[in-house]
Amino acid sequence: MSEMHNDGMAPPADLLTRLPTGPWSTDAASTNYGVSSWGASYFAIDPDGNLCAKIPDDSGESPTDVPLLDAISELQSEGLGSPLMIRFPAFLDAGLSALNQAFTKAIESHDYAATYRGVFPIKVNQQRQVLDEIASYGSRFGVGFEAGSKPELIAALAYLHRPGSLLVCNGYKDEQFVRLALMGKRLGFDVVLVVEMPQELDTIIRCAEEMDIEPSIGFRLKLSAEGYGYWKNSAGERSPFGINSSQLLELTDRLRNEGRAHWISMLHCHQGSQITELKTVERSANEACRVYAQLRAEGIEIRYVNFGGGLAVDYAGLGKDDLRSPDYTVNDYADVLVATMKRITTEANVAPADIITESGRAIAAPYAALVAKVHDVATFEVDEGVDIALPDDCPGSAIRLNDLLERIDDTDLDGAYLSAIKARDAALADFAKGEITLRERALCERIYWKLLSAILAKARRIGRTSTALTNLDAILADQAYANFSIFQSLPDSWAIGQIFPVVPLQRLDEKPTRRCLVNDMTCDCDGAIKHYPTAGGVSDALMLHDISDGEDYYIGVFLVGAYQETLSDLHNLFGDIHVISVTAENGKAVFSRVLEGESVGDALETVKHSPRELSRMFRHNISNAIKEKKLASSERNRFTSEYDAGLHSYTYLSEQSDD
Ligand SMILES: Cc1ncc(COP(=O)(O)O)c(C=O)c1O
Repeated sequence: MSEMHNDGMAPPADLLTRLPTGPWSTDAASTNYGVSSWGASYFAIDPDGNLCAKIPDDSGESPTDVPLLDAISELQSEGLGSPLMIRFPAFLDAGLSALNQAFTKAIESHDYAATYRGVFPIKVNQQRQVLDEIASYGSRFGVGFEAGSKPELIAALAYLHRPGSLLVCNGYKDEQFVRLALMGKRLGFDVVLVVEMPQELDTIIRCAEEMDIEPSIGFRLKLSAEGYGYWKNSAGERSPFGINSSQLLELTDRLRNEGRAHWISMLHCHQGSQITELKTVERSANEACRVYAQLRAEGIEIRYVNFGGGLAVDYAGLGKDDLRSPDYTVNDYADVLVATMKRITTEANVAPADIITESGRAIAAPYAALVAKVHDVATFEVDEGVDIALPDDCPGSAIRLNDLLERIDDTDLDGAYLSAIKARDAALADFAKGEITLRERALCERIYWKLLSAILAKARRIGRTSTALTNLDAILADQAYANFSIFQSLPDSWAIGQIFPVVPLQRLDEKPTRRCLVNDMTCDCDGAIKHYPTAGGVSDALMLHDISDGEDYYIGVFLVGAYQETLSDLHNLFGDIHVISVTAENGKAVFSRVLEGESVGDALETVKHSPRELSRMFRHNISNAIKEKKLASSERNRFTSEYDAGLHSYTYLSEQSDD
């Protein structure tokens, strides 16, 4: 098991990046970048060293390998450059199929006498294309929707078309929400209003009476079992969501006393997202099933037990012994839920319930990849082999740093790092007091960087690692600058340090030669991807190749189809990016559904500027500058048209294709 932090989570990074020294091949690349593990059946590296998506084909033949560079070329032919998002609709289909097949198998193997139905939580990816695709691919499995807000409910009511489709309404509800849900019921959909707070029941009863429609009600139960990881607060007794067991009994008794017990159709629980341990899934399933069995035994004919989301995605590809990766497969997940339901309902001698899950990220994550061009790399060089000559009148601060350099203690590299920082701070303090000159300060800094490099080199040599040393790995890495915004395209990487796989899209048959931190284009020190899954762990730097001037070199960030698109923000006014979809037909890639990203004018409009007004204001400034003879009137047109072209341009750095 990986080392645990005191917040109960595995450390994001635990490995130092090591540039390969031995022979290299595309297989080595696949292992080193983790493609063969997190990429599972979805991604691979072709013999030419290109990262490919393995797109299943309707023909039932083996998947078609589509290099992601082809999607970039396709967009370039339409005059659009990076960053871009590539969508893989077939991966949504594959995710839905895998989940439904897993439950079919588990139901058969446990001889469970009820069914499984999945609902897709709209919040995971609300894009129109996703809802279209879920509605169409999901119809063969009877997949419904989960809505957590009024806008999501309104979308779901339009997308559902099959009578009896399940629509689970979670989230806090006002009267309008309840009325819309009841209308859905009247239209023939199986709409369940899940009570998150006791007061909601009053609203539901009032609306139901006014509209003369009998609702189906669910109760969201606060499980006592806490989850684990970033989303652990979604469950447990202190969770802000759901009702506790005494509230559950009060509400149930109330409905029974009012002759409305038959309204109760669902028991709902949600243990949190990205639950990586199967025993946590089992523990909460056990608790929910016990509650179900008791209510059933009291004569409440609940039809569904809804286990919510939580089915985890293997973002890090680290295998079952590492807490950052799930220790189970989708088949294990289905099996544990069905087995628990079967065991407890049999013991209690009550009817089995239909099992519902609201799995989101497991279905949507592989659906999208972000692609960005690396524009520049600032290399970090230290004269490793060269001795730094100390002058005769060397200041004490430089001597102290040099002493540390000469006797680095292998047994306490964290301590050596800390001493280096203290000695450097002392040198800076001496400079601030005017006690050392600028040249002496520069000397101290040279020794300091050499000292840090030597500490890191020792750590690599003796295979030592710690949080401080992985940080040092990032500090001493080269700085790569890629054309994207982390705030727009990878918000969870920025906000909660979520790990996403990052891989160069080309030259994977060549040995990488640089260790880099990938920075985005925002003017923000948080604008960097800080963790990179690699073979056997996660490091704070990514291996890239030497990039020559003018070379088109791209990186891809994978498994970003869940939550990232709409959690994003417009930091620095970097807007929505271009989108292209790729499918396969008869062994050939088909590119479609190109959506152009936001222009500068679009992004400015989002924050309530009018591009037309801005253009007028800029023209006014030009006129003033001409009046004041700062600008020749012959330059007016060039200035105006360049400004207007800027308003129409992509918000990201121009690449040739955008010009
Ligand atoms: C109530 C509810 N259901 C389902 C989900 C989807 O979870 P996941 O994406 O982990 O499957 C969430 C997300 O946290 C949720 O809050």
